[in-house]
Amino acid sequence: MPNIAFLECSRCRLHHDPATPQTVCTACSGTLYVRYDFSAAEGLPSRAVIGRTERWTGWHGMWRYRMVLPNVDPVTLGEGWTPMLRSRRHSNVWLKEEGANPTGSFKARGLALAVTMARHYGLKKLAAPTAGNAGGALAAYAAAAGIEAHIFMPRDTPKANQVECLAYGAHVTLVDGLISDCGRMVAERKSAEGWFDISTLKEPFRVEGKKTMGYELVEQLGWEYPDAVFYPTGGGVGMIGMWKAFAEMEQLGWVKGKRPKMIAVQAEGCAPVVRAFEHGDAVSQMWQDAHTFASGLRVPKPYGDAIILEILRESEGVAVALSDDAIFASLKDWAMHEGLLLSPEGAAATAAYDHLLATGFLTASDRVVLFNTGSGNKYTDVIGARLKEERSS
Ligand SMILES: Cc1ncc(COP(=O)(O)O)c(C=O)c1O
Ligand SMILES: [Zn+2]
Repeated sequence: MPNIAFLECSRCRLHHDPATPQTVCTACSGTLYVRYDFSAAEGLPSRAVIGRTERWTGWHGMWRYRMVLPNVDPVTLGEGWTPMLRSRRHSNVWLKEEGANPTGSFKARGLALAVTMARHYGLKKLAAPTAGNAGGALAAYAAAAGIEAHIFMPRDTPKANQVECLAYGAHVTLVDGLISDCGRMVAERKSAEGWFDISTLKEPFRVEGKKTMGYELVEQLGWEYPDAVFYPTGGGVGMIGMWKAFAEMEQLGWVKGKRPKMIAVQAEGCAPVVRAFEHGDAVSQMWQDAHTFASGLRVPKPYGDAIILEILRESEGVAVALSDDAIFASLKDWAMHEGLLLSPEGAAATAAYDHLLATGFLTASDRVVLFNTGSGNKYTDVIGARLKEERSS
């Protein structure tokens, strides 16, 4: 495992010291990226070592990529190395099943690493706003690490998210508002309470954990890039992490070729990235009245919007918004025809695939990866209510 060389600002490139906990760039408030000296991991012989897991040392799951992760003792619950399922109906479509992670979502990856580093730094109290699944993951990893978790989530977050946080012993505040209101509350109280803020993109390690999705999807496709990656985008951490992974893998000589088109998928009721992309803007505007049953996508203004938009343009990708009705139709379609109960966020990705085939942006011969970012089983209240509504109408 490499030592961290420095933390680099994504905007102004200023270096920060990894020996102490850092949040955002001290000069411009940009998100910080973790940078390493990768010389020991370069080349195909290093790549070939990856699969040799060492069961007794905890290097399974996403920690198979320990060669490109910080050199610290992990807090792990078995996150990562999730199934890459080929669609039964579309031979060039793979579904990355992130619902198989601990706490049932991809948030496990980012929070496993963020809590690992928090323990390494000796932090005792962590706080975060959440649309739901990040809260559950933070609560679980904090419990495993013996660290306090203070979680702020909208009151109408799916029940499973609230229950899991309480069961893991986290301090939960339900907020009448959105994740942006929760974020404000954390920011207002953190210094008085002695909390370290691990909000999305306001510390360097959640991106770093989520980058393992990029390594995994390339390895699982035989160390080749797909043509497109569909990512349900709220804060955009996974997309930013995967793009970082692709750059690192190219630097290491582990993959070649054209990077995938990155597709940001949002819901029509909260689509700040789609609007900014369509207008050619460099950043998004705060979305008013955000609403969608895909609760993870209810992020009215992502902190990393400029990075997301840059990735979409550089990758020749696109941002698309789907109605809740189209998302729910796709959720039922994949449940009935593929045997997979997707999260609403994952169903936004499957619906977006159908949409981009219909518009001609992609063809059936394009090899694509769709992210099911969470398990549908965490949304039984939301899905159940919609099914009931349909039956009675
Ligand atoms: C299931 C699910 N999918 C997608 C997202 C959005 O993730 P990101 O913030 O990385 O864009 C979330 C965030 O809460 C989520 O819970
Ligand atoms: Zn900066």
